[in-house]
Amino acid sequence: MNSATTPDRTKQPLDNLEEWEDFLKTRYPEPVAAAPAAPAFKAIDPEKKKEEFRNYEADARPTVREFYRLNHRHQTFDFVQAKKREYLSFDRKKMGIWEAMEFLNNLVDDSDPDTDLSQLDHLLQAGEQIRHDGHPGWFVLTGLIHDLGKILCLFGEPQWAVVGDTFPVGCAYSDKVVFPQFFADNPDSQEPKYQTPNGIYEAGCGLDKVNLSWGHDEYLYQVTKDYLPQEALYMIRYHSFYAAHREGQYTHLMTDTDKQMFDWVRAFNPYDLYTKSHEKPDAKALRPYYEDLISQYFPATLRW
Ligand SMILES: [Fe+2]
Ligand SMILES: [Fe+2]
Repeated sequence: MNSATTPDRTKQPLDNLEEWEDFLKTRYPEPVAAAPAAPAFKAIDPEKKKEEFRNYEADARPTVREFYRLNHRHQTFDFVQAKKREYLSFDRKKMGIWEAMEFLNNLVDDSDPDTDLSQLDHLLQAGEQIRHDGHPGWFVLTGLIHDLGKILCLFGEPQWAVVGDTFPVGCAYSDKVVFPQFFADNPDSQEPKYQTPNGIYEAGCGLDKVNLSWGHDEYLYQVTKDYLPQEALYMIRYHSFYAAHREGQYTHLMTDTDKQMFDWVRAFNPYDLYTKSHEKPDAKALRPYYEDLISQYFPATLRW
């Protein structure tokens, strides 16, 4: 194998992005009793012992472990500011939503023979399940687009700057963030001003003022923030913030609105985690419905 075909493991420790999502499902298995539509599961399972978290970590594939090691090491406060400066001028591409979905589909998992579903399939499956459950159009649309920020991979970003659980930077790390031990290698862990519970923020200041680790959630939020209702924007911006929406952490930085809006983030999460099936959605047949839905909220082109 020559260097042109060998993945750079320092940038791409995962064989494919699915590995991170499979790991999420082992940490947060689908509740047996609750159908995917039911948003009523608890953010914190009081029965879940600390050791169980550790077991997930011990059982994680080496590739997933290495992915989180790099993520926790490199996602510093300064790194996040640099990525915001780099990407939030939106001067890379002009594309409509459907075009962005097709662009994202260039991200193929050619290393995994078991994965026959594309990124477009995941988006359509999430949208279709939300539609099937009778939710409003904006919710369906959110399912359809929620991972479009992963086009950061196609702009050359390493996996650890696109996917992975997100967490606040500029304040102390919660030990409920997965693999908290890897934060010891993050230079911010040596900065006292970043290591108090509030860090550089004020208690109750609101998540909008808090910098989260950089990835596909924040990027897509910034691209779409003028066009969608607040509930949808919370789903997009915080769907990978598992320490908050599943573990109940970082409430000391939230406003009452944040706390209420996280009910919507939790309502969305099952559609992200549990709607993958091997049945391939018929993109051609579904396209007219979704193009119409997209046009109700978005202009023909957006800046990326
Ligand atoms: Fe995502
Ligand atoms: Fe997703």
